[in-house]
Amino acid sequence: MEGQQIHDWDDRYQHDSPPPWEDLEPHIEFCQFVLRHLDPSLPSLEVGSGLGHNAVYLAQQGLSLTASDIAPSAVQHIQSLAHDRGLTLPAKVIDVTKAPHLEHAFAGVVDKGCFHSFFSQQSRTAFVQCIHQLLADGGVWVSSIGSAEHPDDPNDPWVETYPRLTLTEIVSLVEPAFEILEVRTGHYGRTGERQFKTWECAFRKRNPLKGNTDDGEKPTDRTGNLTADV
Ligand SMILES: C[S@@+](CC[C@H](N)C(=O)[O-])C[C@H]1O[C@@H](n2cnc3c(N)ncnc32)[C@H](O)[C@@H]1O
Repeated sequence: MEGQQIHDWDDRYQHDSPPPWEDLEPHIEFCQFVLRHLDPSLPSLEVGSGLGHNAVYLAQQGLSLTASDIAPSAVQHIQSLAHDRGLTLPAKVIDVTKAPHLEHAFAGVVDKGCFHSFFSQQSRTAFVQCIHQLLADGGVWVSSIGSAEHPDDPNDPWVETYPRLTLTEIVSLVEPAFEILEVRTGHYGRTGERQFKTWECAFRKRNPLKGNTDDGEKPTDRTGNLTADV
C-alpha cells in the first residue's frame, strides 16, 4: 500500500507464528474506551482487525460490529475465532483505502494500529478522508495510534519499528474533518516489542468540514441523527 512499510499484509498472517503486533488477547482497556464512545445498537466497522481478538471481545460485549482487514488470511482467522466462541460476527476483506465504495455508512469505526501503519503525510490524509466517508453524519471514529512520546531507547531492537505520531500531527490531520471528543495516553500491547505508548482517541465526524460551515457547528448527541438501519 502506498505510504506503508509493509506491502504484503496477507503474507504476515500466513506463517505459523502470528505477526509481532498481535497480542492474541483482547486489549481490554482500549475496548472499554471504544464501548464508552460507540452506541452498541448502531452498526460499527473495525478496520484492520488483524486476528480479531478485539473484534470478538467487542461483539461479545454487545457492539453491533463488522470486523475487517485487507488480509484474507486474517479475516479467515477472525471467522474461525468467532465460530469457536459461538459468536455471530461478520468479518470481511476490506481495504480501507477503497472502503468509501461500501454501500452502507457506519455509526462507528474502530481502528487499533491501522491508521498508524500509514507513514507518509499523503497516505495519512487519505486514510482520514476514507474514514470520514465511511461514517454516517455524527459518526464516531475510535483509534489507537502509536505515540511519539515512546522513549527513544537506542538499545531497544524494535526502536525503528514503532509508529510514532505526535499529538500535534494527529490533530492537524484529523481536526479539519473530525471534532476531537477525547484523547488519552495508552499502550499498544502487553509484552516485548508491543509495549509502546499510544494515543487513544475518539473523533466525531464533522459535516461539513471545519471552515466550510455556513452557520457554525450543529451539536449532536452521541448518536446524532444516525439511525439503526444505516
Ligand atoms: C499493526 S496491525 C494491527 C492489527 C490489530 N488491529 C491489532 O491491534 O493487533 C495493522 C492491521 O491493519 C491491516 N491493514 C493494513 N493496511 C490496511 C488497509 N489498507 N485496509 C485494511 N486493513 C489494513 C493489516 O493487515 C493489519 O492487520
